[in-house]
Order: sequence, then structure tokens, then C-alpha cells
Amino acid sequence: MVGLLTSWGGLDKFRGMRFRAVVLAAGKGKRMRSSIPKVLHPLLGKPMLDWVLGVVGELGPEEVVVVSSGDEALLGFLSSRPVKVVVQEEPLGTGHAVMVAQAELEGYRGPVLLLYGDTPLIRARTLKRLLGHHLERGAVLTFLTVMLDDPKGYGRVLRDEGGRIFKIVEEADLKREEVKEVNAGVYVVEADFLRGALRELKPLNAQREYYLTDLVEIGVTRGGKVEALLVDDPQEVLGVNTRYDLVRAQEVLRRRILWKWLEEGVTIEDPGTTWIEPEVTIGPDTVIKPFCFLRGKTSIGASCRIGPMVELLDTVLGDGVEVRFCSHVEGCEIAEGAVIGPFSRLRPKSFIGPRARVGNFVEVKNSVLGSGVKANHLAYIGDAEVGEEANIGAGAITCNYDGQRKHKTFIGPRAFVGSNVSLVAPVKVGEEATVGAGSVITKDVPPGSLAVERSKQKVIEGWSRRRRG
Ligand code: UD1
Ligand code: CA
Repeated sequence: MVGLLTSWGGLDKFRGMRFRAVVLAAGKGKRMRSSIPKVLHPLLGKPMLDWVLGVVGELGPEEVVVVSSGDEALLGFLSSRPVKVVVQEEPLGTGHAVMVAQAELEGYRGPVLLLYGDTPLIRARTLKRLLGHHLERGAVLTFLTVMLDDPKGYGRVLRDEGGRIFKIVEEADLKREEVKEVNAGVYVVEADFLRGALRELKPLNAQREYYLTDLVEIGVTRGGKVEALLVDDPQEVLGVNTRYDLVRAQEVLRRRILWKWLEEGVTIEDPGTTWIEPEVTIGPDTVIKPFCFLRGKTSIGASCRIGPMVELLDTVLGDGVEVRFCSHVEGCEIAEGAVIGPFSRLRPKSFIGPRARVGNFVEVKNSVLGSGVKANHLAYIGDAEVGEEANIGAGAITCNYDGQRKHKTFIGPRAFVGSNVSLVAPVKVGEEATVGAGSVITKDVPPGSLAVERSKQKVIEGWSRRRRG
């Protein structure tokens, strides 16, 4: 029996359904030729496995069991996720991996969702339909299939003349060619059936592995109801085995995110060159110009203008902020109406006040700039507090580091720091004080005063570089 996923049937059934999930992530991923586990390779900055866990989590399972290898990085990653972890010491096949997970399912009766950590494009609504369909049909096993013009690398679904499924054959064991229906690697199995069937698995195949896919034949032979649900979008069940698959999967996720923001009222001038990671949020009427990278937990307000060629990482932008050409911002908060760049570098823990301006070749680090502050050209502001409406001249530098420790600089509201001033921290420039250009300031400047520290200019009249003969 083939059900097509375009029907809504299963969705109603899914509501309120109890189930547990097992995610397989212990494989070596040999085809990646990598020293890190395949499922930790990032897609848009988020590990492949996290995409799968995120989708499963959306469905509200009673419990999620992840089958991990003993890899330290993988175990470390999993320790911060709301899952139970079991370790498969040797990757003896997908069937063996589920045997290892069995211990966590003891005493449980009901449906178990089994899926692979290398199928990151699967959508929650497809899983809901799968679970709903399974329940509706009262099957012992239901799995997703897809028609592929090029089925290379996937297990093939074999059906008899009457269209009834009888087994899945892995590519390495395939004799009969030209089967286009493939196993997507996403299953719902009744726990009772699973317990018995796993005992029957044998590694009698080309790869000498325990294949999970043999459950299909076991189910059919026992006379249980085995159902397949055909997914109409082949992209959704792409299994990532190679780095080539990795970029293909990433491209699909990237487009999905871009399309979502277009629907939410964001202008993306050049989707081909725009990178937006999954946790980023963007307000309406914001314009993203070409070649922008919006990363991590970045949150952008409404009516902002970003780019071209800007990278924002873990940064919060208020409404109407502009970040211009070639600026790099990490771990900062920028209040409404501020203008950053072109060519600015804002480093972590910098707070830029409303309508402030940070211009070309200005670097700011661990500093607070009040509202309306101007630092338009060639400055370094590190470990500083700058009061509202203060002006930082071209080439002004906070000398915050004495070779051992960092020190703070305070610049009061409406102070004016002239060009090429060095403020040797710790030091304070008072409210409305002025510091003359070129000064090296080592002592506090009282409010409302002028500090100038430079030698007197000498003028020698009639002096010429060329000696007269
Ligand atoms: C598997 C299916 C194939 C299906 C395809 C869909 C089997 C035997 N084959 O093939 O029918 O078309 O997925 O993408 O299941 N894993 C473990 N322990 C192991 C082996 C694998 O945890 O001992 C995990 C891997 O980390 C991976 C997943 O199981 O996330 C699938 O393993 P993989 O080797 O990629 O299976 P495929 O050859 O792609
Ligand atoms: Ca795979």
C-alpha cells in the first residue's frame, strides 16, 4: 500500500500521539574522509545531527535516544542535548545500532520513530504524517520512500507484481537493476515487533552488517502490516554520505531560510550570496545587500540596511540600524538608528548607543558608546566608556594595554577628543572637555577644560632644504 504525502490524513491522527524516537549517529562516515564524526559536520553553522534532533524535538516525543560512537566530541556535543545517549562501540550496522538502543526502550509499548542522523533535511510535518499514517493503518512498520531518477547509494524498495512491498535491498546486494523507489531511512516501528525482529537480524550480506532494513522482510514474512509512505520531495530525505552531499544539503537549508525571511517581509537583494544561519531573526523592511553573513544568535530589528559584504555574529541590532560595506561585528549590541561602517570592526561586548556613528577603520572592543557618539575615522576604542554626543577624532587611540593588564578609559558626555590623541589608560576625560590633536593624555582631564600635550612648534624663517651655493 502506498500513501502519498500530499494527503492530510495522517496529520489528524498524529495529534496527541505518544511515541519515542531513536536517532542513529554512530557510523564512521568513511565517505566523508574526515577526522570528525560525520553527524557533527556543520550545515549553516549548526551540526548536522542538531538539525535532526531539532525536527524530532518539534514533535514532542516522550524520549529521544541517540546511538553514538565513543567519539569524545560527539559525546560532548550530546551531553548538552535533552536526549539519552547509548554508545555503540563498533559500527556493525544500522540494525545493530538499534539493538544497542533497545535497552532504553525496555518495557515500552507503542510506536518508535527510527531515523538517521545523516538525514538533516527531513521536515517535522513529514514525520507527523508518517506517524499518523502508521497509526491510521495499524501497521507494525511504516517507512518513508522516495522515487529517485538516480537512486545510487540508497537501499531499493522491492515490490511484487501486485505492488506489495516485500523487502529492501541495499545497493551492495542489488542484483535486479532499475528500481527507482528508495528507502529514505525513516521508520516507525511498534516496539513489540521491533524487539522480536531485531533478534532475527543476521549480517549475511555484502557488507557483513546488521541491516535495519531487513526489518521490512521480517515484518512481511511474519504477516504483519508493513506500510510505505511515498515522499513527493526527494530533497527532504537526502542522506549525507559525502562532502558533496553536505554542500547540497546546506544549499537546500540555506534557501529554505532565505525564502522564510522573504515571506516575513525582509528584502534579500542577492539570495545567491546571502548566508543566514538558522537562529538569526530579522525584522520587516530590513534590506540585506549582497555577500552578507548573518550568523549565530544575531537578531536584527526592522528597517535596517545591512551590507554589502558584512558579517554579523551573535549581534543584536535595534530598528533602523545601518551596517555598511565590509564591516565585521561580533558579540555586540547596536541601538536604533546607529550607523556602522564602511570598514568598521566591532569586537565582543561593545554597546553602540542610539544614532551613534562608527566609521571607516574604527575598531571598538568591550566598550560602551553613548547615544549620538561619533567615531568616524581611524580610531581604536577598547575597554572604554564614552558618554553621549562625544566626538572621537580621526586616529584617536585608547592605549588600554600596558603589556600585562587592560585598563579603562572614560570619556564624558559631549567631550571632544581631537585627532591622533593617545589616551593612556586608566584615564578620564571629563564632560565637555576638549583634548587637543596629537596629545598623549596620561592624566585625567577635568570637565569643561582643554588639555593639550605637545611640544611647541618651531618656525625658522628663511630656512631652505637646498643650500644656496
Ligand atoms: C542507509 C540505509 C539505506 C537507505 C539510506 C538512506 C541501511 C542498511 N541502509 O544506508 O537503505 O537508503 O540509509 O539514507 O540502513 N549508523 C550507526 N551505526 C552503524 C551504522 C550506521 O549508528 O553501525 C548510523 C550512521 O551514523 C548514519 C546512519 O546510521 O547516521 C545511516 O548509516 P549509513 O552508513 O549512512 O547508511 P547508508 O549506507 O546511507
Ligand atoms: Ca547515509
